[in-house]
Amino acid sequence: MTNPALDEDRLRTEARAILRENDLGGYTIPTKGLYPFQWNWDSCLVALGLAHVDEDRALTEIETLVAHQWPDGMVPHIVFHADHETYFPGPDVWGTARATPTSGITQPPVLGYALRRLLDGARDGAMVAPRVAALLPKVAAWHRWFANARDPEATGLVAILHPWESGRDNAIDWDDALARVPTDGIGSYVRRDTTHVDAAQRPTKEEYDRYLWLVQRFRRLGWNQAALHDASPFRVVDPGFNAILTRSAEDLAAMARALDAPEIAAEAESQAARGRAALDGLWHDGLGQYAAYDRAAGALVESASIGGLLPLMALEPGHPRVDALVARLAGLRAAVSHPVPSHDPADPRFDRLRYWRGPLWLIANRLVADGLARHGRAEAAAEIARDGLALVARSGFGEYFDPLDGRALGGKRFSWTAAMVLDFLEMA
Ligand code: DGY
Repeated sequence: MTNPALDEDRLRTEARAILRENDLGGYTIPTKGLYPFQWNWDSCLVALGLAHVDEDRALTEIETLVAHQWPDGMVPHIVFHADHETYFPGPDVWGTARATPTSGITQPPVLGYALRRLLDGARDGAMVAPRVAALLPKVAAWHRWFANARDPEATGLVAILHPWESGRDNAIDWDDALARVPTDGIGSYVRRDTTHVDAAQRPTKEEYDRYLWLVQRFRRLGWNQAALHDASPFRVVDPGFNAILTRSAEDLAAMARALDAPEIAAEAESQAARGRAALDGLWHDGLGQYAAYDRAAGALVESASIGGLLPLMALEPGHPRVDALVARLAGLRAAVSHPVPSHDPADPRFDRLRYWRGPLWLIANRLVADGLARHGRAEAAAEIARDGLALVARSGFGEYFDPLDGRALGGKRFSWTAAMVLDFLEMA
């Protein structure tokens, strides 16, 4: 940046403009065309950025999402507030029979994490605290749903049943498990994503076939969440997802203690403790980081992705694995021009352009930076924030970025990238 102050003003103004133009009234779409509905973790992370601009609107973002929580506690990954032809698969494919249609799967539970950031940073505590307090039982119900529906054997770790649940749709972590998902009987369909974004930057047709087979399988089971876990050929334990859930449970407990909800606090504290202890079962000595566990196959997955670094945000300070994760991050930093690649570039399967198989994502960087700061690595966290800002100043508000040359990839004028810029401006 030649004139950092000027660039910061320009970035702030542009980030706010993007959040305004993607605001459809009570919820923010990720970007026009490619993603015209409300996505679960997008909204929670967008709220982190909105909080710097308008705390009332940030809370509304989350309240709108949670208003579509299922009776069993699940918060769905997409809420289809209005009809749009530009996205596939739409509500008719999901067939979840909700008054406002939703998908039938979930997404990384950053809700508790985001709410605590809103509460702790509140400028208008008298307005924020009661609204957060009203949301706590709903967060607790979602976390309870995870324990029941996605960890039926009480291992302390939850499985995802669809790659879309991970938020890292086509990560190399899922390749082997996804290869076992059949493709028979899915019928013909027309993808819309590749009309908005270069197909080289998106998941492949083979992956989409399997994504759809899983949706159809779950739909035939009537979206009975209690039955899906054992009926799914795809059951994978993602260290990133579990770290997010564990951290959200810790944050829920802290909010509940502060807001005088001791029963919620006690339940969340025990869920966080169980999750933290169980994470150690995902440590992969050969990779020097955490790895996914293929529950259907009963084996750790040979794949060094950013998912295996996210436990930094959940481990207790001083935990013996922290130094190894920090060293892994330093190694990845040395291998790319822009941190943090979503997959290790030394792996021949790394793909600098293709979605979650290599590109860097500012939202993942935000969670990694949080983990670094939690363990006293404030300078490393600030470097991630500064690089993110410089990247957006140069390449624009892309959905994700090539970690080697910094070009913007995927959707444009992306809400969560704008939100992370507003957040990084406060951190850097
Ligand atoms: C998509 O359609 O690409 C989404 O990631 C699914 O949630």
